[in-house]
Amino acid sequence: MRYLTFALAKGRLAKKTMALFEQLGITCEEMKDKETRKLIFVNEDLKLKFFLSKASDVPTYVEYGAADIGVVGEDTILEEGRNIYEVLDLGFGACKMCVCGPESAREKLQHGELIRVASKYPGIAKDYFYNKKYQTVEIIKLNGSVELAPIVGLSEVIVDIVETGSTLKANGLAVLEEVCDLSARMVVNQVSLKMEQERIRKLIRDLRNVTQDN
Ligand code: PRP
Repeated sequence: MRYLTFALAKGRLAKKTMALFEQLGITCEEMKDKETRKLIFVNEDLKLKFFLSKASDVPTYVEYGAADIGVVGEDTILEEGRNIYEVLDLGFGACKMCVCGPESAREKLQHGELIRVASKYPGIAKDYFYNKKYQTVEIIKLNGSVELAPIVGLSEVIVDIVETGSTLKANGLAVLEEVCDLSARMVVNQVSLKMEQERIRKLIRDLRNVTQDN
């Protein structure tokens, strides 16, 4: 039997994914070692490999078949636009993609003024403003801590993920518009789904059962 390889977005999502897999008896002891600098982990008995990568790289590994399966946020899937199958909503990591900013930006946003929009997700921001709202904006790509942008005057608003809303609140910002709902998704390489149909379909069925029970 060949190995099935999983690419997991490192951090909270990977931890939640492994907790979910444990409910199915899929464990990976060496992954629990907090000191380890290893990037790839193996379960020899089940012939599984897991590796942790930056979230935005997960769809790339899956599209090229370096991983058969990936677990990553819907935000990353939308932004990367890769050729992969999205097979399951895992139910956790629920949050929203929103346009946020100070209250003072609300009017400019509504009146369709030419505003600047900072985001880690320029593709999602562009699709929202150009294809859904038919509004011309200037999009500025950032790599993190996007909430800074309207505070220091880089942009009027941001397009970013809101989970609890505490980052916005702590920085005097608010949700001005909702773009879409998001959650963690399982994605599969298109060839792997055909070649390993039985194993992958069983995994999807088992995951569906436990995620529905939770
Ligand atoms: C995400 C997001 C927000 C925050 C939202 O950032 O970009 O900043 O979480 O969560 P909240 O609504 O619960 O406060 P992340 O932690 O991924 O860090 P980054 O922006 O530096 O990438």
